[in-house]
Amino acid sequence: VEKISTKILSREELNIEKLYRYPDTHKGDYGKVGVVAGSKFFPGASVLCANACVKSGCGLCFLFSPIESLSLHNFRNPEIITVAIESKDGVVTFEGFKQKEEFLKRLDVIAFGCGLTSSVEVEKILIHILKNFQIPIVIDADGLNVLANNKEAQTLLHEYKAPKILTPHYKEASRILSCDVSEVAKNPLDVALQLSKKFDCVCILKGARTIITDGNNIYINILGNPGMAKGGSGDVLTGIVTAILAQGYSGLDAAKLAVYLHSLSADILLERKSMQTILPSEIIENLDFAFKRVI
Ligand code: APR
Ligand code: MG
Repeated sequence: VEKISTKILSREELNIEKLYRYPDTHKGDYGKVGVVAGSKFFPGASVLCANACVKSGCGLCFLFSPIESLSLHNFRNPEIITVAIESKDGVVTFEGFKQKEEFLKRLDVIAFGCGLTSSVEVEKILIHILKNFQIPIVIDADGLNVLANNKEAQTLLHEYKAPKILTPHYKEASRILSCDVSEVAKNPLDVALQLSKKFDCVCILKGARTIITDGNNIYINILGNPGMAKGGSGDVLTGIVTAILAQGYSGLDAAKLAVYLHSLSADILLERKSMQTILPSEIIENLDFAFKRVI
């Protein structure tokens, strides 16, 4: 870790210029995002991810999900454009994905993984994307589980030519590195660096103190609170980082901004709510005030 610059993630470290919005612009200037997420079992994960995307400034957000997952979605988030993927037993199929892939290829950033579940079909889809696409990609949750289970996916990810961000929590990191989760907890900085080097990517290693690294720089986040320790907080972060990446940021700068805004939003909520009652969906709603403080 010696010669690598290690800093606390503070407001001064953020590159906010690309968030400025100029009058003579249109939605195409702010990025088109494709979120591949959701299943019959976890429709909420895709809702949270896509809603966090549209609440973080991207120009357009397309959600690719099984129809069983989208039915919940249409209700709440009219800004999100839904693309139904043919499914089997409530989970996306590779054939279903292939029918819609040309559409996805034209987008600027992909978020892959929230609530997809683990299946051979999901593995095939990620491998296909890594072989045939060249778009910045954010991989979370069941996308990370593909990496843990499939060496070919690991090699392909290393060779993938566009910016890549991985967002594992400790358990997901341990599965990918085939080690015990206690090893990750003992040495989170080394683990984040190891993942970043292994895949030539930006790693956001999530925890009470999230670590961000691109292999050359390390940032440690000190904002956030245990009110975020609830299912769904991670899906929200994935949406935020994807939307910011779509707005023209490098992987490292997008990761720094997203982690900061995500935990700042939760901290602002705590000024008038309690750790027990803060919900991930409220972290999304409250991004209004997090963005306002940062910009
Ligand atoms: N203090 C500050 N931040 C915290 C704390 C804490 N004590 N606890 C959690 N967080 C933050 C993390 O930094 C991270 O950004 O909340 C988020 C939790 O993300 P995840 O661990 O991915 O949790 P979750 O949203 O439940 O993930 C959804 O995806 O990881 C898979 O299968 C898993 O069902 C889960 C799903
Ligand atoms: Mg998660």
